[in-house]
Formats: sequence, C-alpha cells, structure tokens
Amino acid sequence: MLSEALGIKLVTLDEAMKTLERNSEIIYMGWLFASSVKGYKRASKKFRVNTVVATGLCPTGELLTEVRKTSSVPKSTALFTVQGGMDREKLRGVDKFMINALIKFLEKNKTPSEKDLAMLSLIKNGGDFVSFKNLDAVIKRFKEN
Ligand SMILES: Cc1cc2nc3c(=O)[nH]c(=O)nc-3n(C[C@H](O)[C@H](O)[C@H](O)COP(=O)(O)O)c2cc1C
Repeated sequence: MLSEALGIKLVTLDEAMKTLERNSEIIYMGWLFASSVKGYKRASKKFRVNTVVATGLCPTGELLTEVRKTSSVPKSTALFTVQGGMDREKLRGVDKFMINALIKFLEKNKTPSEKDLAMLSLIKNGGDFVSFKNLDAVIKRFKEN
C-alpha cells in the first residue's frame, strides 16, 4: 500500500539484499516483535535507511520512543509506527509461544486499564487495522521531502 501511494518500488528484504546496491536509499518497513523492528538491523547495515515504518498492534503513532531505542534507530532517521493486525491462526513456533504467554500474562492483571483490555482482546480475537489512513503521516513526510 505504501509503495503504491508513493509510487516507489517494493522489494522484500531478501530481494533487496541481492539486488540493491550498497548504500541505496530506502524506506524500511517491518513488523514489531517485542518493540524491535524485524529486519531493520540487517537492512541498516547495507542501506541508507531514510525512514522506518514499523507495523504493530499498538495504535498508529504510539510506542515511538521505545521502538527507536530498542531497534537503535538514529534520531536522523524518521520513524513511524502503524497499526497492523493479528491473526493468531497464522502464528507458528516461537511467535505463537510468545503471544500465548503474553495472553496469559495480560489475563493475570486484576486491574487492567482500558488499553490493556483492548490489547488483550485484539491479541486474543484478532483484528485487521491495515488502512491507507494509517499511512497518512508517512506519505505526508515523503511528499514534503
Ligand atoms: C511474537 C510477537 C511479538 C510482537 N510484539 C509486538 C510489540 O512489541 N509491539 C507491537 O505493537 N506489536 C507486536 N506484535 C504484533 C505484530 O507486530 C503485528 O501483528 C503485525 O501486524 C504483524 O505484521 P504482519 O501483519 O505484516 O505479519 C507482535 C507479534 C508477535 C507474533
């Protein structure tokens, strides 16, 4: 959706590692795993990452400080979080184990906030929040620069 909106080429990280020249300027998009952006470290070693877009369960625009710190995204690199979704049926291995452990942990909380409850429901029951609207800020920045 982002490449469509910006009119730029989309490649997977594996393809990029094989076909893009070192120091190519890229927008890196990856999913959030324990507050770090999957694949970002690998991409940042080879390419000039102009912007990082992290898809996660958190609402769009949240968790920025934590994600920047956990993934060591420099201040000079623009960072956006966008809400994606959860489909537990598709999870396997470590991912499935971690999400099930997180559900058990959240369920133990006797005084959950509204946010905790919303997160628990999203993780347990799944949901899809992918939308062009979530990309508004990313698109705006790209057009301004
Ligand atoms: C093991 C695991 C850990 C996750 N950790 C986070 C997290 O720390 N923060 C967050 O917002 N979302 C987290 N998520 C949610 C994913 O980032 C979210 O489901 C994302 O939309 C997945 O991307 P995809 O739809 O491209 O597969 C986690 C998901 C899994 C399976």
